[in-house]
Amino acid sequence: MTTKTRWTKNTLIFGGVAIWGLLLISCVTVNRAVLAPPSVPGAKFVGSKECAQCHDDQTSHFGSASHAKLGLKDDKGNDSSCEACHGPGSIHVKAGGGKGNIVNPRKSPETCFQCHLDKRGQFSLPHSHPVLEGRISCVDCHEVHSGNAIRGTGADLEAQNETCTKCHTQQKGPFVFEHAALKEGCISCHSPHGSVNQKMLVARDANLCLRCHLESPSIPNAGQINANAILSTPENHNTRLMQGTCWSAGCHEAPHGSNVNNHFRR
Ligand code: HEC
Ligand code: HEC
Ligand code: HEC
Ligand code: HEC
Ligand code: HEC
Ligand code: HEC
Ligand code: HEC
Repeated sequence: MTTKTRWTKNTLIFGGVAIWGLLLISCVTVNRAVLAPPSVPGAKFVGSKECAQCHDDQTSHFGSASHAKLGLKDDKGNDSSCEACHGPGSIHVKAGGGKGNIVNPRKSPETCFQCHLDKRGQFSLPHSHPVLEGRISCVDCHEVHSGNAIRGTGADLEAQNETCTKCHTQQKGPFVFEHAALKEGCISCHSPHGSVNQKMLVARDANLCLRCHLESPSIPNAGQINANAILSTPENHNTRLMQGTCWSAGCHEAPHGSNVNNHFRR
C-alpha cells in the first residue's frame, strides 16, 4: 500500500463509515492510527453479527467500546468491528469456531501495531514497558471489548492510577504525606509507553518538577513552592541541583510520598 489517504476522525464519524473495501485501494489514517486489520489467509469478512451468535461475553457490552465507535464496515456494509482486530472470520465461522483459524491478539502486540504503528517506536525507546519482550501486554492497560480503551478516562484520575498500581504497589500508598501530584495522575510524570528519560519520566532533572512548581494558575497552591523561592532558600537548592536531580539522595528521595517527612524525604 503506497498511497496514503488522510482521513480525520471527523470525516470518519460524520462522513459516514469507513469501508474495508477502501483498504484494498488505500491506507486510511485516523489521527495517528492506520486502518489495516490483520489478515487470515483465504478468509473473508463476515460482520460482527455472526460473532454475536457464539461470543456473548465479548459482544454484549461492545457498543460502549472505543473501537466499536469507529463504526467500521466491510464492503457489504456490515459492521465488522470485531474483525478489525481478529481478522476476517469466514473460515472460523464455517468451522463452527475453534482455535488457530482466527487471530487472537492476546500474547502479541503485532495486531495492535497493524493500526497503531507509532506505538512500536514508543516501546522501543530506551526506557519503556517490556511489551516487545512479552512481559506485559497492551491489554494490561487497555480495554478492548467494552468501555473506553483508556481505563479511567472521564472518571477521576485516581481510578486511572489503579491501572498502574495493580502492578506497582509501592507507589500506591497510602502515604502519611502523599505528593499531591499523584492526584494529577501517574502520567503527569511518566510516559506510559516509553520515554528517552530514565524511569520513563516525561521530563529530565529539575524540569520535571518545575512543570508544576512554577507560578501556575491551573494548580491551586502549587505556586507557593515556586522555583525562585526554592532556589534561594538557605539550604541552597541551587548547589544541590547542580550535583543531581530534585530526587537525588538526601533530597526529595520519595517523589510519590513519604511516611516520615512532608517534604518527601526519607
Ligand atoms: C481493539 C481490538 C479488539 C476488538 C475490536 C475486538 N477484540 Fe476480541 N480480543 C482482543 C484481544 C487483545 C484479545 C485477547 C485478550 C483478552 O482475552 O482480553 C481478544 C480476545 C477475544 C476472544 C478470545 C477470548 C478467550 O478467552 O480466548 C474472543 C472470543 C474475542 N476476542 C471476540 C471478539 C468479538 C466477538 C469482538 C467484537 C464484538 C471482538 N473480539 C473485538 C482484541 C479485540
Ligand atoms: C458458531 C460459533 C462461533 C462463531 C459464529 C464465532 N466463533 Fe469464535 N470461537 C468459537 C469457539 C467454539 C471457539 C473456541 C473456544 C475454545 O476452544 O476455547 C472460538 C474461539 C475464538 C477466538 C479465540 C481463538 C484462539 O485461537 O484462541 C477468537 C479470537 C474468536 N473466536 C473470535 C471470533 C470472531 C471475531 C467471530 C466473528 C467473526 C467469531 N469468533 C465467530 C465459536 C464461534
Ligand atoms: C483496524 C485498526 C485498529 C486495530 C487493529 C487496533 N486499533 Fe486501536 N484504534 C484504532 C483507531 C482508528 C483509533 C481511533 C483513532 C485514534 O485515537 O488514534 C483507535 C484508538 C485506540 C485507543 C485510544 C482510545 C481513546 O479513547 O482515545 C487505544 C488505547 C487503542 N486504540 C488501543 C488498541 C489496542 C490495545 C489494540 C490491539 C489489541 C488496538 N488498538 C488495535 C484502530 C485500531
Ligand atoms: C503500562 C500501561 C500501558 C501499556 C502496556 C500500553 N498502554 Fe497505551 N496508553 C496507556 C495510558 C495510560 C494512555 C493514556 C495516555 C494519555 O492520556 O496521555 C495510553 C494511550 C494509548 C493510546 C491513545 C493515545 C496515543 O498515544 O495515541 C493508544 C492508541 C495506545 N495507548 C495504544 C497502545 C498499544 C497499541 C499498546 C501495546 C502495544 C499499549 N498502548 C500499551 C497505558 C498503556
Ligand atoms: C501488568 C503490570 C504493569 C502495569 C499495569 C504497569 N506496569 Fe510499569 N512496569 C511493569 C514492568 C514489568 C516493568 C519493568 C520492570 C523491570 O524491568 O524490572 C515496569 C516498569 C515501570 C517503570 C520503571 C521504568 C524504568 O525505566 O525503570 C515505571 C516508571 C512504570 N513502570 C510506570 C508505570 C505506570 C505509570 C503505569 C500505568 C500507566 C504502569 N507502570 C503500569 C509492569 C507494569
Ligand atoms: C511528581 C512526579 C511523579 C508522579 C506523579 C509519579 N511518579 Fe513515579 N517516579 C517519579 C520519579 C522522579 C521517579 C524516579 C525516582 C528515582 O529514580 O529514585 C519515579 C519512579 C517510579 C518507578 C520506578 C521505581 C524504581 O524503584 O525504579 C515506578 C514504578 C513509578 N515511579 C511508578 C509510578 C506510579 C504507578 C505513579 C502513579 C501512582 C507514579 N509513579 C507517579 C515521579 C513521579
Ligand atoms: C503534576 C504537578 C506536579 C509535579 C510534576 C510535581 N509536583 Fe510537587 N506538588 C504538586 C502539588 C499540587 C503540591 C501541593 C502544593 C500545596 O499543597 O501547596 C506539591 C507539593 C510538593 C511538595 C511539598 C511542599 C510542602 O511544603 O508541602 C514538595 C516537596 C514537592 N511537591 C516536590 C516535588 C518534586 C521534587 C517534584 C519533581 C520530582 C515535584 N514536586 C513535581 C504538584 C506537582
